[in-house]
Amino acid sequence: MQIAAISFDKFNALADQEAQERIRAARARLGKRAVILCHHYQRADVFRHADLTGDSLKLSRLASQSDAEFIVFCGVHFMAEVADILSRPEQVSILPDLAAGCSMADMASLAKVERAWRELSAVLDPDEQVTPVTYINSAADLKAFCGEHGGIVCTSSNAPKILEWAFARRAKVLFFPDQHLGRWSGYKMGIPMEEMVIWNPDLELGGLTPAQIAQARIILWHGYCSVHQMFQPAQIERFRAQYPDGKVISHPEAPFEVCKASDAVGSTEKIITTVKESAAGTRWLVGTELNLVDRLADEVKHEGKIVQFMGGVICMCSTMQRIDPQHLAWTLENLAEGKVVNRIAVPPHEAAPAKIALERMLAAS
Ligand code: 13P
Ligand code: SF4
Repeated sequence: MQIAAISFDKFNALADQEAQERIRAARARLGKRAVILCHHYQRADVFRHADLTGDSLKLSRLASQSDAEFIVFCGVHFMAEVADILSRPEQVSILPDLAAGCSMADMASLAKVERAWRELSAVLDPDEQVTPVTYINSAADLKAFCGEHGGIVCTSSNAPKILEWAFARRAKVLFFPDQHLGRWSGYKMGIPMEEMVIWNPDLELGGLTPAQIAQARIILWHGYCSVHQMFQPAQIERFRAQYPDGKVISHPEAPFEVCKASDAVGSTEKIITTVKESAAGTRWLVGTELNLVDRLADEVKHEGKIVQFMGGVICMCSTMQRIDPQHLAWTLENLAEGKVVNRIAVPPHEAAPAKIALERMLAAS
């Protein structure tokens, strides 16, 4: 007989303290059958339940190595998809709230990328001349597109290395969806700015001329993260004027001028390790999501390190924030009762080519 899932309605109004207790109780019942993976942007009241934490690259590796029956992903949709693709078929990937998407990932769709590929073929032979590179912040069907077209996936921690892989095969790269990560990585490889052009998917031929496409080495999709887009060079200038010895570190999704004005640029994991490994007493300005910055500030304050948030306004990833203790308690209690809720299952015809693109990345990084 099929067991009915417990409805979320019963959890919606749960007081935070009770949700915490029910998470702990359900976890105790599940034991090693469930592993909780948490991205660094998760809120503190969820992050404290993590078995494993990391940036996108680390979490994708951890998901592929896990033995747990249930991979409960406290992150966003594309991360749970990657966990499903890289884990064994009998393992189940779960996203506690299905509304936890990534607005940047939504800026590129398969239909728009296929249209770009068709339009590019009017001026060159993309399958001979262009490697498609998708940031891991993208839907599984775009990773599948890359797998099918000799392309690859990258993350914020390996993008320059992945671009080298791509250029070793074809002369040009179509990079989607994050223009800022693509531009920064190209710049770090020494590619001149004039050889990186923006493809606007809402315009014919991306708004470019055939001559611009012929000259380009990287064609950058017009996508961005609305959280990191908020950071500005003026915030760094003010910090440096006030604290000349202070250090600045930013995520590569931040605008180019912000990355350029920073002392270091890196993934969420790199930001955390750089600050933790810095000398006692260092003052940091950090350009990434607020939950991470607040937690880091707390973890290093006993060493006299001061960690400040770069943004002038509260700058959280509202979709990451959707995973709350209520959804986590609901998910785990259902699992403990033998009912899977919010499973993320990538259809096999997408999962197989997407896995090729992901495995190329894991082998190259
Ligand atoms: P990381 O891979 O650096 O954790 O970045 C993921 C992300 O979505 C940043 O906005
Ligand atoms: Fe997506 Fe930006 Fe949130 Fe990262 S911070 S998950 S890129 S919306």
